[in-house]
Amino acid sequence: MSQYAMDNEPQATRRDASDAESSRASRGWWDRNADEYQREHGAFLGDDRFVWGPEGLDEANAALLGPAAELKGRRVLEIGAGAAQCSRWLAAQGAFPVALDLSHRQLQHALRIAGGTVDGTVDLVEADAGALPFRDDSFDLACSAYGALPFVAEPVQVLREVRRVLRPGGRFVFSVTHPIRWAFPDEPGPEGLSVAASYFDRTPYVEQDESGRAVYVEHHRTLGDRVRDVVAAGFRLVDLVEPEWPEWNTQEWGGWSPLRGHLIPGTAIFVCAVDGA
Ligand SMILES: C[S@@+](CC[C@H](N)C(=O)[O-])C[C@H]1O[C@@H](n2cnc3c(N)ncnc32)[C@H](O)[C@@H]1O
Repeated sequence: MSQYAMDNEPQATRRDASDAESSRASRGWWDRNADEYQREHGAFLGDDRFVWGPEGLDEANAALLGPAAELKGRRVLEIGAGAAQCSRWLAAQGAFPVALDLSHRQLQHALRIAGGTVDGTVDLVEADAGALPFRDDSFDLACSAYGALPFVAEPVQVLREVRRVLRPGGRFVFSVTHPIRWAFPDEPGPEGLSVAASYFDRTPYVEQDESGRAVYVEHHRTLGDRVRDVVAAGFRLVDLVEPEWPEWNTQEWGGWSPLRGHLIPGTAIFVCAVDGA
């Protein structure tokens, strides 16, 4: 069901995968597939738009991080930034974004879009979201569009790290694959509309090479698990947004399609606050 599957025929299975194995697999997979990902999805993402997922919900309309007019001067951390398209939109609003990603190749695409130079509008950091290289209270806001959280074995560790680097009164908004999708085959057509697996089976989805080494890993959390993770990390859950598929969007993205999108949710967006100011 890998919605990003573009690799050479690894074996797909469901089995446990530790955080270290998942992280190693993600780094390798995104380094190998970043070119293809940006080629296939770059136009939809836009060089400096902030899109929350395949439905095309745009932060310019959704304002989940708060009104765009209030982003000016804010320090914002983007987790799993890919080519940093969202960070460039934030910079255009006057924010000071830091785009963090595990994959060197993804960050090279951020440089490519910026014209090959570090132009100072978006800082790029290569690091694992589970160990953020920043001091406590160093950001006003954090965001992540499908970055890191679907791929890590220990999401509470990532959430705790984000909570640590946010100042009181801060906010973290992140999108992930909607958990209900795990019960359905990852197919855009009608075959993707019949339940084929237990929603409650948390066994990770793993693609492995012939020696059994994981080359791609995704982790499933139920909706309730995600809520508990957010609370366990010290956030207050403000909203849970399930974007509906809009009429204007006729584009498929892997298993996300207009057909399925009109019937079942494809993305879950968690809006999380740090209390106190
Ligand atoms: C689906 S892409 C999303 C990229 C970007 N947010 C977008 O919307 O195009 C997931 C990104 O998360 C990054 N990632 C995966 N695991 C990570 C981790 N543990 N720490 C940091 N980044 C990670 C990948 O390298 C990849 O760039």
